[in-house]
Amino acid sequence: MRPRKTAKKELMEPVDNPETALTGIIASASLGTFGEDLYKILAHSTQVGYYIIQDKKFQFINSHFREYTGYTEEEVLKMKPAFLLMPEDRRNATKNAIMMLREQRFSPYEFRIVTKDGRIKWIMETVMSITFKGKRAILGSSMDVTERKEASRRLEELEALESSILDAIPQAVLGLHERRINFANHAVKIIFGWHREELIGKSIRMIYRNEEEADKIGEIFYDSLEHQRTYETEFACQRKDGREILCRMKASRIGEKLREKRIVVTYEDITAEKKAQEELQRSREELRNLYTHLQSVREEESTRVARKIHDELGQSLTALQMDLSWLKNRLPANSKAIREKTQSMSGLVDATIESVHNITTELRPSLLDDLGLPAAIEWQAADFQKRSGIRCQAHIKCTNGAIDRELATAVFRIFQETLTNIARHAKATLCKVHLSENKKELCLEVTDNGVGITQWQVDDARSFGMIGMRERAHLWGGTVHVRNAKPSGTTVRVLIPLK
Ligand SMILES: Nc1ncnc2c1ncn2[C@@H]1O[C@H](COP(=O)(O)OP(=O)(O)O)[C@@H](O)[C@H]1O
Ligand SMILES: [Mg+2]
Repeated sequence: MRPRKTAKKELMEPVDNPETALTGIIASASLGTFGEDLYKILAHSTQVGYYIIQDKKFQFINSHFREYTGYTEEEVLKMKPAFLLMPEDRRNATKNAIMMLREQRFSPYEFRIVTKDGRIKWIMETVMSITFKGKRAILGSSMDVTERKEASRRLEELEALESSILDAIPQAVLGLHERRINFANHAVKIIFGWHREELIGKSIRMIYRNEEEADKIGEIFYDSLEHQRTYETEFACQRKDGREILCRMKASRIGEKLREKRIVVTYEDITAEKKAQEELQRSREELRNLYTHLQSVREEESTRVARKIHDELGQSLTALQMDLSWLKNRLPANSKAIREKTQSMSGLVDATIESVHNITTELRPSLLDDLGLPAAIEWQAADFQKRSGIRCQAHIKCTNGAIDRELATAVFRIFQETLTNIARHAKATLCKVHLSENKKELCLEVTDNGVGITQWQVDDARSFGMIGMRERAHLWGGTVHVRNAKPSGTTVRVLIPLK
């Protein structure tokens, strides 16, 4: 009795593989005779579907077989065995079963059945020859593997999706294991000129300029991926044709930890992008230089013209005024009309002297050259108040000491632009000017109480006044910040580092 008990226990345990189950059956059925006890064991197995076919008819099915087919025992015993199978799979399943019975095949085979409610299920099965009620019969043991099949189908789909995504992206993607390439997408052909097949199995050295650089970038990647998930950098690479390219590379470890140096790296060729960037940078630099040059030419020209007007026109006008006064003093007492004429001529000459002065000051405030920036700012603020009617308070806490003449011009021109803007745009009634300096920097702050400004107006590419202010400050390593003031209005803050 004992050995039989053991066999029964084995059979009742969960069985994944019908072959294992069958080994148990063979062991217990000894000599291939199908006994009553075994009959019961098979009937109760909930893991494996068992059936016996004799004379081309089902003679026995167990409960699990009933469960997955959906048919009752009565219905099954009446039907032809092939009826359960999907028509397309009948030939193959029969062929495999015959081969197995002839011991020409030993591994389980798969096919589809149609259940009673019309669903399709995948079945994995083995068959063996037995003696049942004294005659030859077939013992089939089968498993419903639909879920596993479905899962592996989904996995396959996912893998297909993954590889099509990898092939759709324009960057080259390489999978590395201990610095060997074990995966490459189609884009490696475009970026590096290599076919993926040429790269797989090879050292990553293939895409770098030399051994040292390949080692260096490898170290950088592996070091950083020890403690972070991804790492991005730019590095020089080499194509199959020997051409050097600059790549933006993003490395990422496979899995939570860096194991066996398994990483994925994407490569984007940014050679052209970098070149364009550099060219843009250069042309910006050139524009800036040109701007600076034009500004200084303009400033020199204004100074020269202002001086010329002042010297030549101013002196002649003063001489004319003196002549007129000489004439006035010598006029006979009764020449009223001539006296009035000379009076009005003298007035006109005065007005002309005044406007010549205004013109020269506008061209180049002599104060700037004579007394320096603090005085010029003070004077300009007072002049602005007089002309615009907007109250303008200047607070100067700054000496002329450290301020270079050119720098003074730059700050003064920025100041003039802020005042012009206040007059033109701000609708302000008050404006406060602070000029101060410490050891490190010179600071000019102009605040009005007008309508305020938006960031958009500040950054607009057509705000040439703003751009000019920034450019002038930039030339001295300084900055211009324009923002809304509290409770209303605009503040322009210019900071220039002092040497
Ligand atoms: N103090 C201010 N108050 C309100 N708006 C201003 C002020 N300064 C400048 N702006 C706004 O910013 C814009 C850009 O100024 P700017 O570059 O000097 O150009 P604009 O030639 O129009 O003066 C102006 O058109 C104006 O709308
Ligand atoms: Mg302006």
